[in-house]
Amino acid sequence: FSCGVVIVAAGRGERAGQSAEGPKQYRTIGGRPVIAHTLNIFATWAGTGPLVVVIHPDDEELFASALKRVPTPSDLTIVHGGETRQLSVLAGLEAIAAAGAKYVMIHDAVRPFADHALLDRCRAALLAGAEAVLPAIAVADTLKRAGANGVVRETVPRTNLFAAQTPQCFKLDAILSAHRAANAGAKADFTDDASIAEWAGIPVVLVEGMVDNVKLTLQRDISMADERLTGSTI
Ligand code: C5P
Repeated sequence: FSCGVVIVAAGRGERAGQSAEGPKQYRTIGGRPVIAHTLNIFATWAGTGPLVVVIHPDDEELFASALKRVPTPSDLTIVHGGETRQLSVLAGLEAIAAAGAKYVMIHDAVRPFADHALLDRCRAALLAGAEAVLPAIAVADTLKRAGANGVVRETVPRTNLFAAQTPQCFKLDAILSAHRAANAGAKADFTDDASIAEWAGIPVVLVEGMVDNVKLTLQRDISMADERLTGSTI
């Protein structure tokens, strides 16, 4: 069965600093914009149903030129995002609902290294009956909680601790209701969709994520991604 896909790309990427190429999802890595790599993952996966890309209104031209660098997805809708990631996802989910899909995968445009094996694991978990699926990796570092003064207060045991990734995958009606309820209740501080599912009481099932499925956040992440794809050091 196929899944609707929402790619959120409406952020301003401020933590990565300013670039003439625009926000980080439009920066070039391996000769193509980050978002072209991300779109390609879904454009070439057999499980992709309707595809919605959520962009910022100022980025229409940047997106149109990135889109030329990938096989054109057959069922593509472009919508405008909001002030927060949460609002951008909600706009994308409404568009997926209009396009018609039973399941949806929500993915950050700035994670260009997810592979088809990961998408297959997510889809298998949905097929097995999960309403919410979260790719995650076990935390490898020892974690500390510190006070505002920069002094460690405690060590947080890392047993059963996971770092959350995307694509996060859901039964569409369940996550759309949860998002609408969060929005209606002015609950606006969710940084991912699994946390909205948790808030709504939807059980979230973990699947194995990928160490390489990093979120490009800072300038150094973009440089490292480019080096990885081109084999060069700038
Ligand atoms: O800001 P953060 O790194 O969490 O962004 C993750 C993804 O969410 C990025 O692909 C970004 O473009 C997207 N986003 C969005 N709308 C916002 C903020 C972030 O689509 N208002």
